[in-house]
Amino acid sequence: MEPLPRGPWPLTCLVLLSLPGVGAQAGQDFKLQQPQDKVSVTAGETLTLNCTTSGDGPIGPVKWLKGWGSENETIYDQTGTIPRVTRAVTESDTDFTIHIRDVRPKDAGTYYCVKFGKSLRGISVFQRGNGTEVSVYAKPSIPEVFGPETRAGPGQSVPFTCTAGGFFPREITVKWLKDGAQISAQQPQVTPGQTKSSYNVSSTVSVTLQEGDVRSQLVCEVHHPTLPAPLRGSFQLSRALRVPPSVQVVADPPSPVEVNKTVNFTCHVKGFYPGDVAVAWLENGMEMSVGSTPPPSETPRGLFELRSLVEVQATEEKNGSVFTCRVVHDAQDPVSGTGTLRIAAPARDGLSGRSQSDNDNLVLIYIVVGVVCTVLALLVAAVLYLIRAKQSKAGKSSPSARLHEPEKSSEANTQESDPNNLTYADLNFDKERKTVRRMVEVSQQSEYACIQSSRAPNGDDNLTYADLDMVHLSKAPRRPAPRPEEAGSEYASVQILRK
Ligand SMILES: *[C@@H]1O[C@H](CO)[C@@H](O)[C@H](O)[C@H]1NC(C)=O
Ligand SMILES: *[C@@H]1O[C@H](CO)[C@@H](O)[C@H](O)[C@H]1NC(C)=O
Ligand SMILES: *[C@@H]1O[C@H](CO)[C@@H](O)[C@H](O)[C@H]1NC(C)=O
Ligand SMILES: *[C@@H]1O[C@H](CO)[C@@H](O)[C@H](O)[C@H]1NC(C)=O
Ligand SMILES: *[C@@H]1O[C@H](CO)[C@@H](O)[C@H](O)[C@H]1NC(C)=O
Ligand SMILES: *[C@@H]1O[C@H](CO)[C@@H](O)[C@H](O)[C@H]1NC(C)=O
Repeated sequence: MEPLPRGPWPLTCLVLLSLPGVGAQAGQDFKLQQPQDKVSVTAGETLTLNCTTSGDGPIGPVKWLKGWGSENETIYDQTGTIPRVTRAVTESDTDFTIHIRDVRPKDAGTYYCVKFGKSLRGISVFQRGNGTEVSVYAKPSIPEVFGPETRAGPGQSVPFTCTAGGFFPREITVKWLKDGAQISAQQPQVTPGQTKSSYNVSSTVSVTLQEGDVRSQLVCEVHHPTLPAPLRGSFQLSRALRVPPSVQVVADPPSPVEVNKTVNFTCHVKGFYPGDVAVAWLENGMEMSVGSTPPPSETPRGLFELRSLVEVQATEEKNGSVFTCRVVHDAQDPVSGTGTLRIAAPARDGLSGRSQSDNDNLVLIYIVVGVVCTVLALLVAAVLYLIRAKQSKAGKSSPSARLHEPEKSSEANTQESDPNNLTYADLNFDKERKTVRRMVEVSQQSEYACIQSSRAPNGDDNLTYADLDMVHLSKAPRRPAPRPEEAGSEYASVQILRK
């Protein structure tokens, strides 16, 4: 039995002695494969880092290090559990592939798969892989738009800034839109972000504000390879806009007014934004107590307006008083409107001055017209009177008879050739004396005329006669004397008897 155990002892020793030589040989055909050169992963997803070994290596662990040199960081070391990191094939002696879940931008870097060997001096690097450069594709954060610190008025150019951060890769595009229409901006500024492998972007645009921008929206649109659709940040321009009000004071009724009338002064405060406004009334610079400012109402355009009313009794002492509507909008300098109360000088008959003078003019016109008419009427009357007087004078002397000769009676020859020429007489009798019926014999030699009246003669001395002396009577065949007509009618007949 003894020699037998002796035999193996030297062999065991030999084997033990030869172990380092065996180890050296095994280390020489040991191979560590880290096949990935570059890997990209989107933040939040899981990163796989491959590493396999072959052949025999020295005793010692395989670890994953991030970075090399003094900056290195152990990601996996086969011992304890490191959060987020797991082995792809657990307990494997050849596959040291790891998964890092929920990757973050800070996970970006170069990863090394390293085989350590234990020696008397401790643990040292035996072999390492070529390293895998990991890029973490990171989506930019939701863009934020910053406006100016204070509001600005229409026409002012105001800068707006859009920022987004934490994205990778670096390439990024920023677009600005105002109410959906693209506006031009400067080139965006890309700066390193919180980690080495992420970036921040900042873009600035200048917008000239307008009154209508109360309802406008400014949008910053960020395009990045990691994004299926652009990300947007927005800004309501109303937040940056201040539209000052227009202030106008209107008096109802308008000045001048009668004394003791009530006058409403209305302050029209229009087209302002924001709606923060305070209205005060001053009478000749002294503040009046009119209560609180009524709430403004919003117009369809998004601006505000309000009306403030003050009632004033138009007493004579207030003649010439100035009423000021002072508007303080959004803590700015006051904007004012004024109205002056004027009291009309007392009117004589309650009519206003202007219609009074109109009436005076009318009255004057009527008077003139009346006077002229009266004068004319008087003139006409006078003329008529004169004519009548003349006529009555002529009529009073005696009833008259007038013989009319035919028109072509200047020549005796002509009359003889026309036997139908008649001589007739117009006899004018005074109406008061209708009773005459007499035959008048003018002269023996001359032709005579007989004048008959229908009634019987009274026998008084009043005679009606016709003087036919100067009449040339033409010859005509004798005709029967016309018969007197109905009694009462005035009728005269002149009959000429030839010798
Ligand atoms: C590591 O890099 C060396 C030289 O750059 C190359 O020859 C070798 O093939 C690489 N190994 C792997 C696993 O890529
Ligand atoms: C990495 O390792 C996993 C798990 O072993 C394997 O499925 C995959 O094919 C490997 N990829 C490469 C590029 O070697
Ligand atoms: C890793 O860093 C430590 C100290 O920070 C250093 O002692 C060690 O040599 C480094 N390892 C490698 C592989 O660079
Ligand atoms: C980058 O953006 C992040 C947030 O997105 C912020 O916390 C950080 O301060 C920014 N860094 C720089 C350099 O602007
Ligand atoms: C106006 O009112 C005052 C006081 O009420 C009164 O004394 C004055 O007579 C009034 N004047 C007229 C024109 O009505
Ligand atoms: C009010 O003042 C105006 C001039 O300022 C004057 O013409 C008018 O007569 C005044 N009215 C009264 C009632 O005194």
